[in-house]
Amino acid sequence: MEMMKAIRIHAYGGSENLKFDEVPRPEPKSGEVLIQVYAAGVNPIDWKIREGFFKQVYDYSLPVIVGADVAGVVTSVGDGVNTLQPGQAVYGTADMMLSGAYAEYALGYADAIAPMPKTLDYLHAASVPIVAITAWQSLFDGANLQPGQSVLIHGGAGGVGRYAIQLAKWKSARVIATASAANLNDVKNLGADRAIDYAAQAFEEQVKDIDVVLDLVGGETQARSWQIIRPGGVLVSTVGVPQSGIPHGIQAVPVFANLRANSQLQQIAQLIDDGPIKVSVEQIFELAEAAKAQEVSQHGHPRGKLVLQVVHPS
Ligand SMILES: NC(=O)c1ccc[n+]([C@@H]2O[C@H](COP(=O)([O-])OP(=O)(O)OC[C@H]3O[C@@H](n4cnc5c(N)ncnc54)[C@H](OP(=O)(O)O)[C@@H]3O)[C@@H](O)[C@H]2O)c1
Repeated sequence: MEMMKAIRIHAYGGSENLKFDEVPRPEPKSGEVLIQVYAAGVNPIDWKIREGFFKQVYDYSLPVIVGADVAGVVTSVGDGVNTLQPGQAVYGTADMMLSGAYAEYALGYADAIAPMPKTLDYLHAASVPIVAITAWQSLFDGANLQPGQSVLIHGGAGGVGRYAIQLAKWKSARVIATASAANLNDVKNLGADRAIDYAAQAFEEQVKDIDVVLDLVGGETQARSWQIIRPGGVLVSTVGVPQSGIPHGIQAVPVFANLRANSQLQQIAQLIDDGPIKVSVEQIFELAEAAKAQEVSQHGHPRGKLVLQVVHPS
């Protein structure tokens, strides 16, 4: 039996529950793709799953290999997969129910994987899928953002926020982003027409009659947002919306990213290769340092994406 290295959650809780293990290499079943992982992206959902926040939703049997965002090379494909071939450079998401991305090999569904952008290396490609898909589905599916509309993005300097700014500008919307002081220039460089320092200024005193609020923060930031939305406008949130108390005439849309999104991954790859979308990586870790990477994701206020490097260029 072929073996591989992988990071597994052994018990729900702190990052000390992540172990660097030797496990059997998985095989793809029907509709699945086995990828040799060159790099794996780190997302907030990874540490939230590790903490057990989603154990009512996803029934993982522990220990489980963690991680979704992946870039690498197709090793083999299961029955019925004719969109991808062995040897192809790809990016997308592995599925933790199959075999997660923090590993030397990962399994994903074929419709969650697409050819990698031609202009990116594996490290940068692995940083893209979840955040870019979430930004896309929030703005275009959840809020139906139209050219000329105004959109306020809370958390503009974060993983999802950076793509949301760029995608909204590509759609010819007027973009306002909130961020902390250190990141204001960053969000402007990504294309925001206006940047608001959320710690220094009350955004609700700065803007009004907004068509779309994209809420990536929640809590009192979301609660203070209803008053700045025009009648008929939309608040779309990746962190949930309340059951009640939403002002009459405003639509509140929760987003749960559908990661079986290879056609969106193809469009995003095209936008990256053509130039409108820039990709940046903040910090690179070894696979064995996954616990450290999740600590930074959870507590370190990262300024951009964190990536685990699994294969080093020779
Ligand atoms: N529902 C879904 O399908 C889905 C998909 C993807 C992500 N998510 C969730 O969406 C959220 C954002 O994800 P992400 O990957 O973008 O996270 P991230 O990379 O950790 O970014 C979060 C950003 O929010 C900023 N921030 C914190 N408090 C703020 C405030 N009061 N006002 C404005 N900005 C504030 C942070 O800036 P500072 O560090 O400078 O404070 C940081 O730049 C996470 O909770 C994630 O779990 C949900």
